[in-house]
Parts: sequence; C-alpha cells; structure tokens
Amino acid sequence: ALDMNQITAQLQHLGLSQPPSFPGVLLHPEYNPVDIFRAYIIEQLHRITEADPAIINNALAWTADQKHGDLVLPVPALRLKGKKPDGLASEIAEKFESPLVQKPTADKTFVRFFFEPEPLASLTLKYIPKHKTQYGFNPRLGLEDPSKPGSKRKRLIVEYSSPNIAKEFHTGHLRSTIIGGFLSKLYSAAGWETISMNYLGDWGKQYGILSQGFEKYGSEAELERDPIKHLNEVYVKINQDNSAEQKEAKTLTEKKDELEKVKNPPKPKKPAKGKEAEAPPPPQWTDEQEKELQNAIAELEKVQEELVAKPSIDEKARQFFKRMVDGDQEALKYWQKFRDLSIEAYKHMYARLSIAFDDYSGESTVKVEDMDKAANVLQERGVSEPSKGAVIVDLAKHGAPKLGKTLVKKKDGTSLYLTRDIAANYERYEQYNFDKMIYVIASQQDVHVAQFFKILDLMGSPYSDTVKKCEHITFGMVKDPKGQTMSTRKGTVVSLADSLDSAKDFMHDVMRKNEEKYEQVVNPEETADTLAISAIMVQDYSGKMINGYNFDMERMTSFEGDTGPYLQYSHARVCSMERKANVSRADLERADFSLVIQAKEGVELVRCLAQWPDVFLNAYKTREPITVLTYLFKMTHLLSSCYDAKDAENRNAKTMSVMYAESPEKKAALMGLYDSSRQVLANGMRLLGLKPVERM
Ligand code: ARG
Repeated sequence: ALDMNQITAQLQHLGLSQPPSFPGVLLHPEYNPVDIFRAYIIEQLHRITEADPAIINNALAWTADQKHGDLVLPVPALRLKGKKPDGLASEIAEKFESPLVQKPTADKTFVRFFFEPEPLASLTLKYIPKHKTQYGFNPRLGLEDPSKPGSKRKRLIVEYSSPNIAKEFHTGHLRSTIIGGFLSKLYSAAGWETISMNYLGDWGKQYGILSQGFEKYGSEAELERDPIKHLNEVYVKINQDNSAEQKEAKTLTEKKDELEKVKNPPKPKKPAKGKEAEAPPPPQWTDEQEKELQNAIAELEKVQEELVAKPSIDEKARQFFKRMVDGDQEALKYWQKFRDLSIEAYKHMYARLSIAFDDYSGESTVKVEDMDKAANVLQERGVSEPSKGAVIVDLAKHGAPKLGKTLVKKKDGTSLYLTRDIAANYERYEQYNFDKMIYVIASQQDVHVAQFFKILDLMGSPYSDTVKKCEHITFGMVKDPKGQTMSTRKGTVVSLADSLDSAKDFMHDVMRKNEEKYEQVVNPEETADTLAISAIMVQDYSGKMINGYNFDMERMTSFEGDTGPYLQYSHARVCSMERKANVSRADLERADFSLVIQAKEGVELVRCLAQWPDVFLNAYKTREPITVLTYLFKMTHLLSSCYDAKDAENRNAKTMSVMYAESPEKKAALMGLYDSSRQVLANGMRLLGLKPVERM
C-alpha cells in the first residue's frame, strides 16, 4: 500500500491534513485515490445534513458515465425525514465547500460532484506509478475482517474447465476455462486465497470403450505426440463401430418385424355398416416375400449367435469399467496413461491462456466410501427411495417440483455423475475447509447443478452447511458465425489446440499485412499467438456471461472496434511512444501533472484513471468480465482522443503529443500520464487473463 505520509504532504498544499475517517465506514485511501475525495465529501455531507456517515457512504455512488459527475448522491438514499429531496439537493449544493471538489450541481433529487482536476491529477498520477501492477486492486476485501489489516484471508475454490478425457474439448469447456480464469484472478486481486481446480471427466464406461478403441486403432507414437487429438480420434472411431454394431442388429430386427407384419396383417377394423363394399381386399403373400422373411430370420439369428459368442463393444466396456472400479491393475493401466498424457497436453494449452491449475482432481478421485456414506445419509434421512431395483430422489416430494426425479444409484450399483458430484462436494470441504466454492459450468447443466445442490441441502448437516458456501456460475453457449451449434461430428470444431492454432495463423496473416512493423516484432509466432488468444477472450467477455455468442474469427481478430487486438494495439502504442521519448523513471514520477489538464481530453483521461479502483470494486460485485472490459474500452478511447487533442484556443492541434511537447517538463508530464494509462490498461488486461504485448 501507499505510504500515507506522501498523500498527507500533497494534501497540505491544499490546506488539508489527513483524510477524515468515520467509525463503521471502511475507506481505503491507501489503495484508492477516489476514497480521499469520498472521505471529504462524507465529512461535508455529514456537516450539512447530519446524516449518518455510513449511510452517506453507501449512498454515494460512482458513475459509469463521467458526464454525470465523478460521484453522485441520490438524496433520497440518505433517508432523511421531513425534507423534500430536491430542496435538500439544492441546499447541499449551496453549502458544500472543499478545495478538492468543484461546486456541486443539484439535478432534481441528485447532487453531482466533480473533482478538482488539479489535485485529482497530481494524486492519481502519483498513486499509479507507486502501486504499479497492483493499482486498482484491493487485497483487503478477501480478509475475514477487512477493517483489520492482519486478519486471515478467506479461501476460495474455483472449479472450472473440467474437460472429459478422450471426448472433445468443446467451446463450452473453453468458455468455462476463460471465465473461471477470470474469477480466480478477480478474487486473488481482492485478497482471497484462491485455489483453481480442474474436475476432469476421467471416469465411467467410456474408458471401457476407449481402451477397446486403443487396442484396435491406437498408436503409441500418435498418443505421445498429441494425446488429446489422438484419443478423441480413437474414441470417435470405436464409437462408430459401436453404433454400427447396434444399428446392424436393429435393422435386421426391423426388417423381420416388417415382413411378419405383411404376412400376418393386423385384423382390419370392421368397416362401418353400409361401407362393406369399399373395404380393401386382404393383401397377397407371395413366395418371394416368404423367402425374404426366412432369410431375414436366418441373418438375425446368426448375428444374435455371434453376439453371444462375442460380446458387443458396449457390453465389453461395461465389464471393463467394472474391473476398473474393482481396482484391476491391468484395466487401470491404460486409463492412468491416458489421464497422465492428457493432463500434460492440457497444461500446455492452459499456459497459452495464462492459466494454471492448483489441483487436477476428477471424477475418478471421488472415493467409493464417500459415495456410500452419502447414500446412507440419503436413505436414513428419508430423502431417497428404492425404485425398480435402483435408488432415486424425487425432488418434487421435497419442495422442488421443477427438478423432477433423479437417479442416485443404478441397478448394477455403479456410481453416477450426480453421485460423484455429491460426494466430491464434501470431500473438497474436508480437504480445503473453504469459505466459498464456485462451480463454473455451462447452462446446459443448470438442472444437474440445481439437483445436486438441492440434494446436499436435503441431506442436512454437515452437507447442507457446505453447500451454502457454494455457488454455480453459469454461462451461455458458443455457436458458429451463423449461429449454429458447433460439434465434432459436423467438423466445425476439431480440438481446442486446433482452434487456437487456426486463430493464431489468422492473426499472423493480419500482422504480415504491415510489412514494416512486422519486421520489428522480435518473436512474431509468439505475438500472433498472444494476439489470437486476446481476440478469443475479449470476444468471450463482450456480453454478459449468461448470453451466448457466435464464434466469429473475422470479427474478433479485427483491429477496429472493441476487440482484443485493439486493446493490444493501444498498449503497444504507448510502449512504442515510451521507447521513442526516452524519459527517465525519475523524471516521470516527479513531473508537474498540472500540465496535463490544460486540454479537456487530459482531464477526462485522468478522471477515468482515478476511477479504476472503483471499477474493480464494482467488478468484484458483478463478477462480470464485461464490467472490466467496458471500462478498458472507454479508457483507451479517451487515451486515443488525447493523441489528437487541440489546445483551448483550438490552435495547437498536438497539444498533448509527447513528440511535439513545448518543454521537457511538459514532455515528462504527458509521458507520465500515458505511462499511467498503459499501467491501468495492463492491469485490467491481466485481470482478464490477457498478456499485454509491447510490440506488434
Ligand atoms: N466434465 C463435465 C462435462 O464436460 C463438466 C464437469 C462440471 N463440473 C462438475 N462438478 N459437475 O460435461
């Protein structure tokens, strides 16, 4: 945190001392420059209205649009009796005085506060280079008691990504990865101890299918080279065999049934009286048809015999999985290998997305005894009931009619996706003793999550206590540019690595169009990759999480409009300016920042930079990446209007250009402003999981 003495020294110039503090009001002037202004505004409002400082603090809001002020007070929120809000608004505007804030404006029942540009610029542009990569973040929010700096940090588990080994890593998993990565960064920046958990789909009958596929189609070399892709290919092939097998038996049965129907037609309905003459004559059964029927029966019998002699892929898979469950080392050998190699490969992809997991758990790690224990609790507390040899929970009977009935134990006793989730929830609590756990899972599984949360709740203590600390963060579907669902079968999605690679190639082509710049990029491959990933992530963040979107390569890789490449371009542009201007760190930090607010564009940019800590706070409330993204675009647009700003007399068209600065002092001050903007942009980008580039 910033040394408060430095702030106090600044305030003394204005005839002020330490910012005031109030019992029960938690301000963080050491992290947030706006909190200094807040403190003085609260003091004034308290003096004028005698309202409680805590209520004033809650009422005083930041503004998304700065033309409405830096802070705004909706007067009714003060909950003062006996005074008309609009009258009180004017009275406040009238009586308010502070060297930090301009004369407020009363606007109906609102009072709008605009900070004095000069102290705002000198304070904010000192804060940013002091806090650097931490500016905007507030490590106190995640403390058990935020008012006590030494208090314990709260612990959060974020479960996200969670792909299924062998099956495709589809866009739903990509979205969970991107959003989960953001949430874990957001909570860490707020001071939480955050654990990133990947709950792999690594258990179930599909491993029985996969190992048969590997015997038939697998290649050790391919497996080593690209395990995710190879296992997926093998899995697709063996599943085709499996469905061909099932289809063959089905077609034959259908053919036989059809022929039998023609031979022995169902008794025709008695024709209505008087219409006997119109009834169709009974069909003729030909020798030809009889022969066909006999052939079909013979063929079917042969297939059925074969099936008995040689069990189907499906049946073998069931047996194989049973052996895995029973701990058969031979059966588990492949599974372990597939899992290990897949995790290795995932780690590479996650690194490209700036994501690392602390815990690779998975459905396979859920202990049988914990599932049995949960099953007993369900039974003892009368939550579950037997049904046709299996066990179900009828959630309708327990006050959740929309959640219907759900299976909790199969006839053969093997576990289910749902029961694994139930047991895993408590296992995680025992292992980590978390204060909060977030599941980032696609909206297609809303019902599944609601079901297992509800069941945990019905199980009573301790399960019900744990589930109260849990939250599901859901998100909408990603579709292709035409709004169609993407799937492996249609060939619109191959694998995550492939889609990242094709985005990278696309971006590389875009970069090559500007030959001169391209020459100067040190590592074009790497830069293209970073830009492509920024493009994908920003597109993902461009709406609320619950909304789906169309995956549109053309649009997301554009440098125009609100895209990832545009943010990267804005960052690289300041970096290039810094290389050319070559102002020393020391000169930047001791610059006279009153020089940057001569043009209104400079004032707007400074106001925006001061807002970043409040925007972060708001993002911590909404947990929507769009909250951060919207701010970054607003800020970069203000930054770019500074580059062409004119002076007050509209004569000097480059009044905010570092290159054309009329004095070394002005040059240092402008460079300081732009460097702080770059820092805020970089902090916001990193929070979103983007790696800011210095050249592109
Ligand atoms: N592996 C699952 C799937 O791909 C997602 C797992 C989500 N997490 C959970 N705890 N159920 O569909």
